This record gives sequence, structure tokens and C-alpha cells, in this order.
Amino acid sequence: MSKDRRVLVTGGAGFIGNNFVRHLIERRPGWEITVLDSLTYAGRRDNLPPSPRIRFVRGDVRNPTDVDPCVQDADVVVHFAAESHVARSIAENRVFFETDVLGTQSVTSACQRFGVERLVHISTSEVYGTALVPRMDENHPLQPCSPYAAAKAGADRLVHSYVVTYGLPAVIIRPFNNYGPRQHTEKVIPHFITEALRGRPLTIHGDGSAERDWVSVHDHCRALLTAIEAPLDRVRGKVFNIGSGRSVPILGIARTLQALLPDHDVRIECGTDRPGQVMRHTADASRAREVLGWTPKIPLEEGLRDTVEWYLAHREWWERAPEGAVREFAA
Ligand SMILES: NC(=O)c1ccc[n+]([C@@H]2O[C@H](COP(=O)([O-])OP(=O)(O)OC[C@H]3O[C@@H](n4cnc5c(N)ncnc54)[C@H](O)[C@@H]3O)[C@@H](O)[C@H]2O)c1
Repeated sequence: MSKDRRVLVTGGAGFIGNNFVRHLIERRPGWEITVLDSLTYAGRRDNLPPSPRIRFVRGDVRNPTDVDPCVQDADVVVHFAAESHVARSIAENRVFFETDVLGTQSVTSACQRFGVERLVHISTSEVYGTALVPRMDENHPLQPCSPYAAAKAGADRLVHSYVVTYGLPAVIIRPFNNYGPRQHTEKVIPHFITEALRGRPLTIHGDGSAERDWVSVHDHCRALLTAIEAPLDRVRGKVFNIGSGRSVPILGIARTLQALLPDHDVRIECGTDRPGQVMRHTADASRAREVLGWTPKIPLEEGLRDTVEWYLAHREWWERAPEGAVREFAA
């Protein structure tokens, strides 16, 4: 029987955040959730299900006057809010440092000043840069290759510094590439699916050999709940990779999606490679298995099939989505 908690979810109207809110609503009936989100192009109020247990606050994590009262009312903070698109950060990146670094400073500082039971900070595997070893564990050097990754590395180490300096009860999660329902169409998997459904070719960067470790957002959400509920002495200040341990090239993803849409004439084309490209990412997630008891359960092929089905069934969601991608770097 889990203890009831008040959870603040920053960035809860975005892709992973809304899936996590849904996960909590379904699995922890006594918990109350506040979502703090400024609703940038990436956030949608209608991503959140109607529920009396969800309170929505439109506010900006860069602004302590928005953050402080929300943190004051929370037992647990799960911090997703960020500018999250690598390609956008190549075109224009000041807001990435403002939101991802200074926004994390506002949240972390409020957690320290008001005292929370736990802060779960969502970092990213992008902080590692290209893998130097077959599987990257949490001690892999941080060599961020894009402004997005550099901003997230700054935030990641900022949270670490608060653990060391103030003893903040924080956990740092480094998820590998997530996919699933309600992911903005600027990201590669929904971009490919919706381009295919619009009858357009799938354009991949370079020759499509860049590999990523793909993890279902539902598996990720399970990991986050275990990070909230694990005994503090086992997780305080720890970093956890959340990935499948298997990497698949972008071209392989495009071909799988092609096969999953047999009624569509899906063409694959190669374009120019993107600057700051990471060539391979593969997780060693053994720490999450050993400490959190977490392993991914959803095989990639099954997760992709379910994701394609979701986009097929929710055309009104993605047709209404603002065109978020910076076209020259899309996906
Ligand atoms: N999607 C992935 O594959 C992936 C992988 C690893 C890590 N992450 C990290 O997970 C987190 C969530 O990613 P996502 O894919 O759901 O992102 P997303 O872009 O879909 O959602 C981000 C949310 O944050 C909100 N937001 C942005 N700036 C804000 C601000 N200043 N104040 C308040 N809210 C703000 C947006 O409105 C949006 O709702 C991010 O921190 C990202 O770096 C994502």
C-alpha cells in the first residue's frame, strides 16, 4: 500500500509529462497532481485527461514566483519542463539555456528552500554524446554534442551540486529515446508516422546509420514511479539510465514503420546529415535494474505497432498540432 502524495509535475502538458500524469492517475488513486506548464508550442492542455485530481497551473519554470507556491504545496516534484528538441537548439538556443538550466535552478532551489520528500529530475542520455563503449553506463563521460544536450548536462550537474551542497533528496534520470502516444510530430518517430500518413516520403538525416536506444514512454513512466517510491538512502544523488540496452539505426526505424503501414506507399529518402549528430547511443541500465528493480517490458516492435495505431486513431490530435519542427532540421 503506497503512501498518498501530492506530486508537482513540471512540463506535464508535454509528451512524457502527460503520459506520466496518466500513469499516476491510473496507478495511484489517492495521489494528487499539480501540473506546472507554460504551454509552449510543445505543450497542450488537452494532453491531460479530465480529472478532479489534476490541478493545472499555467506558469513558467524560469520564474520563481510561478514555481515557489507550486513546490510549497508538493511532497514530490518530477521535473520534465524543458525545451527538448535537438534540431531547434541548433537553429536558436538561448531559450534552451534559459529554460533547461535556469528553469531547473528555480525548481531545485525551491525544493531546497521549502523542503520536499523527493525531486526526480529528468535529464537525458544526450548528455553523453556518442557512445565510447558498446553500452554506456552512468559513469560514461559527459560530452554533449548539441546546445540542447549541453543545456541538459548543465541542469543535470546543477541538481547533482544541490545534492552534494545541501543534501537535497534528488534523483537524476537519464532516459534514452522515448516514443509513444502524444509525442510532438517534430520528433523522429511521430514525424515519420505522420509524414507517411500524409503521403510524404520519410526523409532521414545522412544515411540513417545513426543509432539510438528506443524505450517506450510507458516503460519510462514505470521507472519514474519506482524512483519516487524507492527508499531514499538507495537513490539520493544517484543517476539512472533508462533504456533498453539495444540500439537500432534510424533507417531501421523507418523500415519498420514502412512495414507497419502496408496500405500506404511509404518512401524513404536520405537528406543531409544534421550538425551535432550523435552516431550511437546504447544504454547500460543495470543500475536501474539492480536498485529500482526496473527493466523495460515493451519490445520495440510491439511499442512501434501500438504507437502507429495511436497516430492512426488520433488523426485530429496531430493534424491540429502546430507545425513545431524547424523545417530544415526536421526530426
Ligand atoms: N522525448 C525524449 O525522448 C526524451 C529523452 C530523454 C530526456 N527527455 C527529457 O524529458 C523531458 C520531457 O521531454 P518531452 O519529450 O516530454 O518534451 P516536450 O517538449 O514534449 O514537453 C516539454 C513540456 O515543457 C513545457 N515547458 C517548456 N518550457 C517551459 C517553461 N519555461 N516553463 C514551464 N513549462 C515549460 C512545454 O510546454 C511542454 O509541455 C525533457 O526534460 C527532456 O529533456 C526526453
